[in-house]
Amino acid sequence: MRRFEARKDKRKKTAGITAAVVIALLLAGGAAWTGAHDWDLKESAASLKGVLGGTESVAPSGTDGGKVPASGGPSAEGDGDDPAEAGGGTDAPDQDLPEPDPLEGIGEYDDNRELPAEPTYFDGVLIANKKYPLPADFAPGEDPAAREAFDEMAAAARLDGFELAAFSTFRPFERQQELYDQYVARDGVEEADRYSARPGYSEHQTGLAFDIGEVNREQHWARDSFGETEAGKWLLANAHRFGFILRYPEGKEDITGYMHESWHYRYVGKELAAKIHSKRETLEEYLLLPDGKTGPADPDK
Ligand code: DAL
Ligand code: ZN
Repeated sequence: MRRFEARKDKRKKTAGITAAVVIALLLAGGAAWTGAHDWDLKESAASLKGVLGGTESVAPSGTDGGKVPASGGPSAEGDGDDPAEAGGGTDAPDQDLPEPDPLEGIGEYDDNRELPAEPTYFDGVLIANKKYPLPADFAPGEDPAAREAFDEMAAAARLDGFELAAFSTFRPFERQQELYDQYVARDGVEEADRYSARPGYSEHQTGLAFDIGEVNREQHWARDSFGETEAGKWLLANAHRFGFILRYPEGKEDITGYMHESWHYRYVGKELAAKIHSKRETLEEYLLLPDGKTGPADPDK
C-alpha cells in the first residue's frame, strides 16, 4: 500500500514536471514567434496592463520614453553598454585606447629639454635629431668606417664620371654653435631651425654625417640644385650600396625636423642602408617603428 502511494506520488511528480516543461516550451515558442514577427512586447504588456487595470505608461516605440527612467527597470540600472556604468571601470577593456604614436613631435624641439649626459642609440644605431640631442662634450671626430665607405663610393662614382667631395663631415658642438648663430642672425630662428641644427642637435657632431658635392662644381654645394645634377642623382640611386642614406628626404620635414637636403648623407652601414633605402623610410621611421610598425622601440635596447 505504501509502495503504491509512493508510486502514485512519483507519477504525480512526473506529471507535474512534464506539465512545467510543456508550459516552458510553449512560452519560449511564443517569445520566439513574437520576436520573429517584430512585435513590441512593451506595447503588448501595456495593453495587457491596461486591460488588467495597471497604471504603467509605455511610450510608443521609437522614442526614449521620457527623461526619467521607471524605477527598477533596465534603464535605472544601466544597460551594460556604457563602460562608465560597469562598476569602477577596472574590468573595462583597454583595447579601444589609441596606441601612442612614437613619432609624435619627433621633428620638433622641446624648449625645456637639456642636453643629455649620454647619446641615444636604438638597436646600436646612434641618433641625433631634434628629439634626441647629444651631450655637449660628445666629440668622436670623423668616423673612420664612414670615411672608408665614402672613399669606396667616390672610387665607384669616379668610374661613372663624377668626382665626389665630402665638404663637411664631423663638426664639434662649438662649430655648430657658430654656424647656427650666423644663420639665426641672417634668417631668424624659425627659418634657421628648418635647415641648421642647434648646437648639440646636429648629426654632424656624431662624425657619421657627410655633406657631399662635386669637385669643381662648388656652386651646387649645400644647395637644392645639387639634387638636379647628374652626380646628385647618382648619389641618390647608389649611396645605400656603400652604407649611406639620404638623411633629410623630400616631404619628411615633420619627421626629420629639417627641409630636404640633397647633399647630406648619413653613414649607417651597408645592411641598414639597404633596408632603409628599399623601404623609402627616414632613419626615425626605421628605428622608432621597427618590426612592421608595431610599436615604439626603447632607446638603448
Ligand atoms: N643641416 C643639418 C640639419 C645640420 O645642421 O646638422
Ligand atoms: Zn649636413
